[in-house]
Amino acid sequence: MNASGHFSPDEQQQITGFFAEHRIPATLERAIEDYITKKAGKSWDDPVILERLRRAIVAQKDDYWKPSRRRRLQYTKGYSVLGYLAYHFPVYFMQTEHLLATLACDGLLKKTMTVLDAGTGPGVVPLAIADFYSRLDGARATVFSVERSEEHIEAFMYLRDHCTKKDANASIKPPVRADITTVDTVKNVENIDLLIFSNVLNELSATSPEQRADLVMKFGERLSADGSILIVEPAEETTSTQLRILSLALKKRGLTIHSPCSFIWGTNCTPDRCWSFVTAPSIKPTSLMETLAACEEPFRYVNTDVKYSYVVFRKDGKTREQYRVPAGSRVLRLSLVHRHVDKRVNTIAAKMSEDLGDAKTHMFRLCDGSAKKPVYAVVPSYHITPENEAIVAEPYGTILELDNVLVRYNPKHDAYNVLVSRNTRVSFPKIGDKYK
Ligand SMILES: C[S@@+](CC[C@H](N)C(=O)[O-])C[C@H]1O[C@@H](n2cnc3c(N)ncnc32)[C@H](O)[C@@H]1O
Repeated sequence: MNASGHFSPDEQQQITGFFAEHRIPATLERAIEDYITKKAGKSWDDPVILERLRRAIVAQKDDYWKPSRRRRLQYTKGYSVLGYLAYHFPVYFMQTEHLLATLACDGLLKKTMTVLDAGTGPGVVPLAIADFYSRLDGARATVFSVERSEEHIEAFMYLRDHCTKKDANASIKPPVRADITTVDTVKNVENIDLLIFSNVLNELSATSPEQRADLVMKFGERLSADGSILIVEPAEETTSTQLRILSLALKKRGLTIHSPCSFIWGTNCTPDRCWSFVTAPSIKPTSLMETLAACEEPFRYVNTDVKYSYVVFRKDGKTREQYRVPAGSRVLRLSLVHRHVDKRVNTIAAKMSEDLGDAKTHMFRLCDGSAKKPVYAVVPSYHITPENEAIVAEPYGTILELDNVLVRYNPKHDAYNVLVSRNTRVSFPKIGDKYK
């Protein structure tokens, strides 16, 4: 991998090969099974153990849907961690691999990196980093982490010792057992190149967005001048929206949002209804999930969807997109969309969702950083033409110009739709060759 994040042909082949499998490494799958056997004192596929795992998974999921202040996610009992390993670990591992690939493409992974993962659980992020770095020539990552649950730390150490080699490209340090809200737990880790909070900030139920922002800023003091902060949360509406509210609070404290948001009018956004997440290809169920699913309600134990909300921050002002709508452009700023209901307009916005519609009518969230209410591009499939198919084909986060769309208000959702028809042209905005 070079400094711009370009992989060598051999690295690229290995990375593509890994993602094509849609599954976590077999050694990790086996180590999770062996760890369950070790902790349970009986084989992981013993019917009694499977039933206990099922109960732990259901209890954990029930807890997740509660408002955050009523959650009890403590991970103090053995089975809550074993349930986490069986149900959540595989998708979170895979989503971390996708995020690492994204960071690399954005030139944000260094060849020699110091990483700190806060709220590491059973080491999902460090183990994914070790796996990702194993495909990079001559790269080296040193990964520190913090976790308060002893049960998670025990699982983490077992998986580390059974799945990583001593001379590997990543050196995974034993996690510091501490509460991340009482910082200074990582005093001796300085010049962090990548600081990660993966699926953890939403668990700090007693803290306000402002307090979470303070916490991130405090950890951020240990970030190197060209380091990145990655915050990831589940794609579920509340956690996802809270992430955007937190992001704006951090932006106002002086961090730059590198991605996935682009602020093409140079405004601050209105994040309270911003539900935006990435969808990556589903994983194949692990053999543990398949065994758990051999029961009356199989769907409860199979977790294969990879959907996540993320944000990357920088201290040095770097952003993924540099595009700004040039002064004098005759395109509609989405903050003014309410004045153009039932009219045809031209607009420029980033595509901020995968398809939220169905095979007949496609729907994509749009954002130009200025809208007060959600805006969606609605595309009937029979209206797709070579001139507008970019709205369907381009990936999450791409900035697009939509010429000749019809604005509609949707009172049921208090949102706006811009209708893409066969007369709509969707293209990359070309201004001074700054963008594609
Ligand atoms: C949902 S798990 C996420 C684990 C891992 N980062 C991942 O993405 O899979 C949340 C983890 O954060 C830990 N955690 C929650 N609050 C914490 C705190 N105040 N200090 C340290 N760890 C905490 C929990 O114990 C748990 O292991």
